[in-house]
Amino acid sequence: MTAIAILGAQWGDEGKGKLTHVITRDADFCVRFNGGTNAGHRVVFSKVPVPAGVEDEEDSGMPPQPQEFKFNLVPSGALHEHCAGVLGNGMVIDPYALVEEIRALQELKHAEPELYISQTAHLLLPYHPLVEKLEGAKSELDTTAKGIGPAYRDKAARIGIRTSDLLFPEVFREKVKRNLERLQKIWPGQSDLEKINSQQLADDVLKLSSAFSDRITDTVKLLHKALREKKTVVFEGAQACLLDLDFGTYPYVTSSTATIGGVGSGAGVPPQWIERVIGITKAYTTRVGHGPFVTEEKSELGEELLYRGHEFGTITGRKRRCGWLDLVALRYASMLNGFTELALVKLDVLTGLKEIPIATAYRHPSKEVIHNFPSVLEILNQCEPIYERLPGWNEDISQCKEFAQLPPQARDYVRFIENHLEIPIRVISVGPADEANIWR
Ligand code: GDP
Ligand code: IMO
Ligand code: MG
Repeated sequence: MTAIAILGAQWGDEGKGKLTHVITRDADFCVRFNGGTNAGHRVVFSKVPVPAGVEDEEDSGMPPQPQEFKFNLVPSGALHEHCAGVLGNGMVIDPYALVEEIRALQELKHAEPELYISQTAHLLLPYHPLVEKLEGAKSELDTTAKGIGPAYRDKAARIGIRTSDLLFPEVFREKVKRNLERLQKIWPGQSDLEKINSQQLADDVLKLSSAFSDRITDTVKLLHKALREKKTVVFEGAQACLLDLDFGTYPYVTSSTATIGGVGSGAGVPPQWIERVIGITKAYTTRVGHGPFVTEEKSELGEELLYRGHEFGTITGRKRRCGWLDLVALRYASMLNGFTELALVKLDVLTGLKEIPIATAYRHPSKEVIHNFPSVLEILNQCEPIYERLPGWNEDISQCKEFAQLPPQARDYVRFIENHLEIPIRVISVGPADEANIWR
């Protein structure tokens, strides 16, 4: 059996989609275990193979042009013909978004993606984003406004509605009615909530879910069988360590487990089965949304990183805050997740900088030098980065295929990170395209 986890080591958008797409070329299953449509995983690829028997309209004899697909709910391995996607129980699934994503994938692949949806995953319904807005989480935390927090809260409060409820229409109708009435009582006079008619909503969702209800199944059984049969299963994290509900920069976090424990709780696969835990990090740091960010670069250089790296939210288009690599945070992520290897992404974006700061520790006004990432917000907020400054390089590295082809300063930058974290960097990404990688 081969089980591989790919986990964000920072605040998200590290390139999990790209790496997952590349690693699942030889995989049988690709599994999402947390989050929902707050995830935006962009994959850039040259061409999706057209299935036998389907006329290839685009086959003009010209070299294939890069295309892209932005995954929200479906795992990023789904572009490959032989890789089935699994939406695990730890997810919150917006049925409207799922139908739209399946439709878009079908159009791209000229074939239905092979998907399995956990019968115990929770549904995110149209009242969840409304509640999130009413509660002010959107403005206070700068969430993605998709309703993620309220959907997970329903789950924790044991009033959540699961995908299996769709298979029992009367049960589903009753639960929608109960939850909506409850919300209308909590938020009286809110026209957006009052406008929703529970019967109509339930009918609407039941109707549209007919597009995927035959894929709702026991995904735990499915994955255990696959692993016993020595199939390759890749678990694709959404969000990242510092957005994890327990270990992230609370309360500026998401509402699910984005660290390795999420594979157990969100897909039902025991941790000792995971052979490789790949931590993925940008060569610098970004964060979208409010919350502490010790190495944030607030000068024009930060803006420069934003534009060079096209650091705009994949889903919301929001500007990502940019700063330097933070080894204190990465050590923390590595400790929590037990990374067996790292993927270093977007190294190309640093080309042309005279020197590159990299934080190796923090300074706190009363605690002096800090080496361990503080989980208490009040302490973290007062930390300043202690930087080492490494020399930059000017050569275009986006076509490099071998480590030896990188300029010596870029190689030193990679080795510096490896030596500090004591984890091998197995792949370096030097461009958005799926082929732009240096394997080591
Ligand atoms: P995810 O949420 O972790 O999957 O990451 P996103 O897809 O939200 O954001 C990563 C962005 O960086 C996407 O637009 C990718 O196409 C892009 N990207 C990935 N790897 C590289 C790279 O090595 N270099 C550059 N320049 N862009 C990259
Ligand atoms: P991927 O999978 C970056 C951030 C939001 C906000 C906080 C809580 O693409 O890396 P939520 O809507 O989840 O309640 O918002 O978490 N956030 C992300 N930031 N990438 C993501 O996903 C994110 N998903 C949520 O910006 O700060
Ligand atoms: Mg993203």
